[in-house]
Amino acid sequence: MLEGKVILVTGAGGGIGKALALGAAQAGAAVVVNDLGATLTGERESKGAAEAVVDEIVAAGGKAVANTDSVAEPEGAERMVQTAVDTFGRLDACVNNAGILRDGFFHKMSFEDFASVIQVHLFGAFNVSRAAAPVFREQETGSLIHMTSTSGIIGNLAQANYSAAKLGIVALSKSIALDMSRWNVRSNCIAPFAWSRMTSNIKVDSPEQEARVAKLREMKPEKISPLVNYLASDAARDVTGQIFSVRNNEIFITNQIRPIRSVHRSEGWTAETVADHAMPALRGSFTPMDVSADIFPWDPV
Ligand code: NAI
Repeated sequence: MLEGKVILVTGAGGGIGKALALGAAQAGAAVVVNDLGATLTGERESKGAAEAVVDEIVAAGGKAVANTDSVAEPEGAERMVQTAVDTFGRLDACVNNAGILRDGFFHKMSFEDFASVIQVHLFGAFNVSRAAAPVFREQETGSLIHMTSTSGIIGNLAQANYSAAKLGIVALSKSIALDMSRWNVRSNCIAPFAWSRMTSNIKVDSPEQEARVAKLREMKPEKISPLVNYLASDAARDVTGQIFSVRNNEIFITNQIRPIRSVHRSEGWTAETVADHAMPALRGSFTPMDVSADIFPWDPV
């Protein structure tokens, strides 16, 4: 499905990114494998992560090149895109997948932990998309696929930095989809579920949580690959501005925030009438204080 296409996958040295890079190469794409070789919290650790995935792709008869820049730096993102163009002559799709975690309850979250997570996820998605934009515009085609999270779309404890970045990515994606549709540039999000270094970081301190983690272990990163390959391909030419989710053999489409109920008084409102009239009328439509696990309570299929 991706024969002749060139795809950049960020954070592809391990986890979901690696599975996506291998999957795209198998489908015929030439792949720029980016990875900084970072620890879970974002410190540069090993230079070899991207090269190892390139070796694997080439050994299987595919085409790939490594890049070890950070998505958090605009110049790094530009080099990734330039690597695609210099090595393979074009760029058809970017998967904004690189990520880090610095979890902590809000009242304990440091400025640095907030900033660094926003920097890698939200600025990273901006930097890579922005670097690709002129190439896509010139080619009059291109596909951006951003990894978001149910942590941002729904909610999760102790992830204010990550949730804010991931919901920011949803708005970024929609804005790009609107601004660049005249050049056939598409932009979609996927909230993936997979057992990886990131999910294995979940703290387990009760038998219930242990049971939950046992279920998470069954979710394979490879299962995200078919949707990514489809979105990168010409078959998805009319699919843009959407939020999908993949959990093993399930694919979901997620709705987007819209007004769901309104009240009005022709004479206008006071704080008292808001209390006596507006809130009782709107309360039935309040969104519950739920977390991702409340919305996905059944086992992965
Ligand atoms: P992972 O921790 O296994 O992989 C992330 C990769 O990104 C690592 O190889 C790391 O070296 C690389 N990276 C980190 N900072 C970088 C930077 N500045 N520049 C370039 N590369 C960098 O994580 P996983 O689970 O594979 O996550 C992939 C994406 O999917 C992330 O965006 C994550 O937020 C998202 N996601 C994952 C979920 C899951 O269930 N695993 C759930 C929801 C979202």
